[in-house]
Amino acid sequence: MIKLVGLAAAGLALSFGTAGAQEVSVAFGEHLAVIGGCHDCHTVGYNESGGKVDPNVSLAGNPAGFEGPWGKTFAKNLRLTLANMSEDDWLLFSDTFETAPPMPWFNVHAFTDVESRSLYQYIKSLPGGLGEPMPDSLPPG
Ligand code: HEC
Repeated sequence: MIKLVGLAAAGLALSFGTAGAQEVSVAFGEHLAVIGGCHDCHTVGYNESGGKVDPNVSLAGNPAGFEGPWGKTFAKNLRLTLANMSEDDWLLFSDTFETAPPMPWFNVHAFTDVESRSLYQYIKSLPGGLGEPMPDSLPPG
């Protein structure tokens, strides 16, 4: 009997412990953008401020480019990337797109559907308008 009660309690604790992580929400998307490192490259001022998220420029791209053997790439304005995508379009895109370095596109492929949908809703919820497009990438040399 005591054993059974213990098991039931463990089951309850488990379902409470994971419930939050399995629901689509703006707050979860916000969290993912931080722990997924998206702001590191896609949000102006994020690194310099020691990780302060300014919602008005969050994920609106960063014109400081990345140079390497691949040429020069710019962390794109994700608000514009999503501007003409439905949530389902994004789900497909986020599972299949590939880019030049240093964008870790393979990490985005690893997002679950709940995570991808939450990130979409977070980006769509951000204030400050759509922002400007980033420069086109440049070939090596
Ligand atoms: C190390 C820097 C870096 C990190 C970290 C990073 N990105 Fe990127 N991202 C880039 C760069 C640079 C590009 C542009 C690559 C190119 O031009 O080929 C890019 C492009 C993209 C694109 C393609 C946009 C388009 O319009 O084609 C998406 C989507 C994207 N990133 C999402 C994310 C998400 C989501 C995260 C967090 C999980 C993230 N990125 C983290 C640097 C980064």
